[in-house]
Order: sequence, then structure tokens, then C-alpha cells
Amino acid sequence: MDKMIAGFPDQLREAVEIGKQIQLKNIPNPLSSVYIAGMGGSGIGGDFVAEWVYDKCPVPIIVGKGYRLPAWVHPPAMAIVSSYSGNTEETLSVYRQLQERKVPIIALTSGGQLHQYANASGTDSVLVPDNWSSPRACLGFSIVEQSYILQQLGLIDNFFERDFLNAADLLEKETEAIRMLAEEIAGQLVDKFTMIYALEGMEPVALRFRQQLNENSKTRAAHFCVPEMNHNELVGWKKQDNHLAIVYFLSDYDSERNRKRVAISREIMAPLAHSVFELHAKGNSKIEQALYLVYLGDWISWYLAKARGMDSIEVDVIDFLKKSLSEK
Ligand code: F6R
Repeated sequence: MDKMIAGFPDQLREAVEIGKQIQLKNIPNPLSSVYIAGMGGSGIGGDFVAEWVYDKCPVPIIVGKGYRLPAWVHPPAMAIVSSYSGNTEETLSVYRQLQERKVPIIALTSGGQLHQYANASGTDSVLVPDNWSSPRACLGFSIVEQSYILQQLGLIDNFFERDFLNAADLLEKETEAIRMLAEEIAGQLVDKFTMIYALEGMEPVALRFRQQLNENSKTRAAHFCVPEMNHNELVGWKKQDNHLAIVYFLSDYDSERNRKRVAISREIMAPLAHSVFELHAKGNSKIEQALYLVYLGDWISWYLAKARGMDSIEVDVIDFLKKSLSEK
């Protein structure tokens, strides 16, 4: 896993090369909305991309995680179906429903049944390398290829390519410093329940960190977003709990009002938890800053796995669940 995390900057560069080659055959016109289906490590890419095009894309980009397909998804909507393995049950279920409704689909995968189905039905597909053992380590392919897909669909211009390449350079340059900081923070999260907070616009960063703590570090954690948490979760902070560690992800793209909210919330929360960490992003664009925090969080999850004596690669419980379901 450490090699895969360290390979993230190069993965971004490779993903850009793949993205430049994407040639979609079916580009619907008009196009009312884009539905992105995917689970876990293959679903979170959609969350990031939807956030980055929030103030740019003229149609809704909605991410769905599960078996169901909302009633509004009919042409002229279209869909991106994302599964790294190509074999995830929920995602394949959505794929079949999309086909029944004749919704144009773009399959994003490294192979598996999704690739077979897409080939058999002439569905557009974007293939990413199949030599990565963990879908969650393929976030770079997921975010970059989905950005190029939206560009090809005519929904956004190519504001992202330079940001991804700059992010790759930034992360490479900062790797040593990030690893040192990550190791220090991980050391203080051992045996703690981590409460993770990001501000509006950066929520996927908090989600990613929570998922990496779950899957890499084999620990539970919770994540929340400001300002929404000010209207509910904050009320739960009444009693001291020394098992709690708080992590705030902060960026230059946080609004002034939300920063004030964090400052006030922090005064309420900090005395009741064991420790508080404020992680500040670096980089010159929203994408760079988000990926800086992702990379820092990924390394924290790896050092935490090491400190807890956990194998950061195995996800035996997910494999067990998928296998048990396939037998039923
Ligand atoms: C494993 C991981 C999982 C998978 C999920 C869906 O590394 O991150 O969250 O991504 O089980 O599988 P795929 O990505 O193959 O559709």
C-alpha cells in the first residue's frame, strides 16, 4: 500500500495520458444531467469531480451509491458507471437498469463483467490499467478520467489538466514533509476514534480520509461537513470523551463564514476531546489543495495501519461479503 500511495503522483500523470486519448462514440445532445454510479473506492471519484465542477457545469451531476436508480434518470440524462474490478454487484445492477431505460452509458473500469457487457452492447468504455490490487488506490484514474469524460460531453472546459499535473508535481515535492507529518499524526490517532471535519466544498476529502482509515488502518471513524454539522452533530458535544481525536481539513477555498463557524465550533469541541489536528492544504488550485489533503490523509492511514499492526492492503471482510452474496 505504501508503494501505491507513493505512486499517486505518477498515477495522476498516467491518468492524464489515458484521458487525452478518450474518444466517446455516443455524445447525447441535448443532455439534461449525468448520473454517476459506483461503490467505495470507485464511487468516491464521482464525489470529487461533482464538487470540482459545482460552479462550472450547467447540468446536475449526481452520484449514486447502491442498487437503485432514481426515477428521473431517463434520456436525455446519461450515466457514468464506475467499477474498478467491473464485478461489483450494486454497480452492475444499476448498469442493467440504465440499459433497460436506454440511458446512454460510459463504463469506467479495468475489466470484469462491466467491460464484457459494455463491449457486447457497444457501450462507450474507458479502460484503466488492471494491475493495481486495490480500487481505492486508483483514485487518480477515477477523478482524471471522469473529468475528461465531462469535457468530452461538452459540459466543462479543460480547466483540470494543468491542475492534475501541478498536483502531481506538488505531491512529489512535498512527499517527505507529508510523510513526516503523517507519521506524527498517526502516532496520536492510535486507539482513538477519529472525528473528521471538512468545510463545504471539500467534503470528499473528509469522506476519503474516513474510508482510508476504515480500509487501510482497520479502524472506525466518522466524518462531517461544516456548516451542516453546526445544525446537528455539534449538539452531541456535551461530555468529555478522551477516546476522540478531531481532525479538521482546511483549505484556501473555505468561505469566511465557514471558517468562523469552525473557530466557534472548535472552542466547543476541543476541550471535550483528547486532541485536535488542523491540517492545512497546499497548492494553487482547488484540485491541488484537495489532492494535497487526500495524499496527506492516505499517508496518515498507512502509518496508522503500521502503528496498529494492521495489513493495510487486505479487505478480507469486503471480499467475504461479496463472495457470500454471490453464493446466495
Ligand atoms: C477496495 C475498495 C472498495 C471497492 C468497492 C467496489 O480497495 O476500495 O471500496 O472499491 O468494494 O469495488 P469496485 O471498485 O471493484 O467496483
